[in-house]
Amino acid sequence: MKVLIVGSGGREHAIAMSVAASSHVDKIYCAPGNAGIGMIAECVPIGAMEFDKQVAFAKENAIDLTIIGMDDPLVGGIVDAFEAEGLRVFGPNKAAAILEGSKAFAKDLMKKYNIPTAEYENFDDPEAALAYLETAKMPIVLKADGLALGKGVLICNTLEEAKAGVQQIMMDKKFGSAGNQMVIEEFMTGREVSVLSFVDGRTIRIMSSAQDHKRAQDGDQGLNTGGMGTFSPSPFYTKEVDEFCQKYIFQPTVDAMAAEGRTFKGIIFFGLMLTEDGPKVLEYNARFGDPEAQVVLPRMKNDIIEVMEACIDGTLDQIDLQFEDNAMVCVVLASDGYPVSYEKGFVIRGLEKFDDAEGYYCFHAGSKLDEEGRIVTNGGRVLGVTAKGADLKEARANAYQATEWIEFDNKYMRHDIGKAIDDAD
Ligand code: AMP
Ligand code: GLY
Repeated sequence: MKVLIVGSGGREHAIAMSVAASSHVDKIYCAPGNAGIGMIAECVPIGAMEFDKQVAFAKENAIDLTIIGMDDPLVGGIVDAFEAEGLRVFGPNKAAAILEGSKAFAKDLMKKYNIPTAEYENFDDPEAALAYLETAKMPIVLKADGLALGKGVLICNTLEEAKAGVQQIMMDKKFGSAGNQMVIEEFMTGREVSVLSFVDGRTIRIMSSAQDHKRAQDGDQGLNTGGMGTFSPSPFYTKEVDEFCQKYIFQPTVDAMAAEGRTFKGIIFFGLMLTEDGPKVLEYNARFGDPEAQVVLPRMKNDIIEVMEACIDGTLDQIDLQFEDNAMVCVVLASDGYPVSYEKGFVIRGLEKFDDAEGYYCFHAGSKLDEEGRIVTNGGRVLGVTAKGADLKEARANAYQATEWIEFDNKYMRHDIGKAIDDAD
């Protein structure tokens, strides 16, 4: 079969690699893709938000299945555009993708269906938000309602900071229309865990757990980024935690969406905080995490196409999802200055070292071919250097060793990805 993947980051590279391993697939296209994806798929220069062109391409090329990797097109309704033309597509439709597209919607859903999450209030009037803050306990968390490239969350330690945050989000519109509404919620403490799942509208199957490192610098310092590295599984995601989440969070979320007439098919990514009072939902995403996919998908034993087709057909209950009993660590190589400002266009050397290195992967996030056919940096996050190991420590040592195989000017990385694992001993 022929498969089209929509997106251009490390996550889409990881999806493409799993799709390439499927026994059902003869040809992979990726729109728009990047230089790394271009090694295993044919990249097509169509933007992720150009729905008409994506649909036309799928029709003209008799694509059997389209997989949407990114949040923006999902929230914007790309799945509806494909389905309207009778095309097979993996991902939630617009009505369901609101689970990620509106934090206010997600919070109200959790409240209505008793799914554990932080206490909160929603606001569409900045004056009301400012008045609420006067009596609120600090620290407090402000969230722009809509998509904001993972940057629309402000953790405020003082009333002054919080007031300035309301000004930025709702009045100055720092995150654009994402700030037309805002959630103000209780600050929680605990370990964070990412759990990705396949959902067919009714049945949910959980993937191996993971943990992201969102801050730019070692020791969780610096600005929030799209993610500087991940490890999987999380030693903090115990059997006990899993049992609680299955009962009170995962299935209830799927059932709640169905009850609201927003049947969810695709990936639900649960961002969880393991608090003293038990696991609580920080956020939902309607797609694979990036760079969580990079440490989860290569360990999945199932044929990804069979799992995705089961989600579309509503037969996920017949799938036994299995993961290798090992670990993976992904270290993001970024361009120095990310996430604020950075240069692009530096030649990347050493990629060939991954060719025959079993258990080592170099997922491209921001790369492209220049006019001379060289692979050059083309983004803040450039590569996700990823390695397997028998356990997390071995995987971490392997991943950091492999970061030395790659060279490009202004190469920057965190040196403590997976260090939290040591606390679990
Ligand atoms: P989100 O995009 O909602 O996952 O938020 C981004 C990050 O902000 C999370 O990964 C947490 O580290 C932090 N965060 C979000 N909500 C809270 C909260 N209620 N309490 C503490 N930290 C939070
Ligand atoms: N790594 C976090 C995310 O994909 O949203």
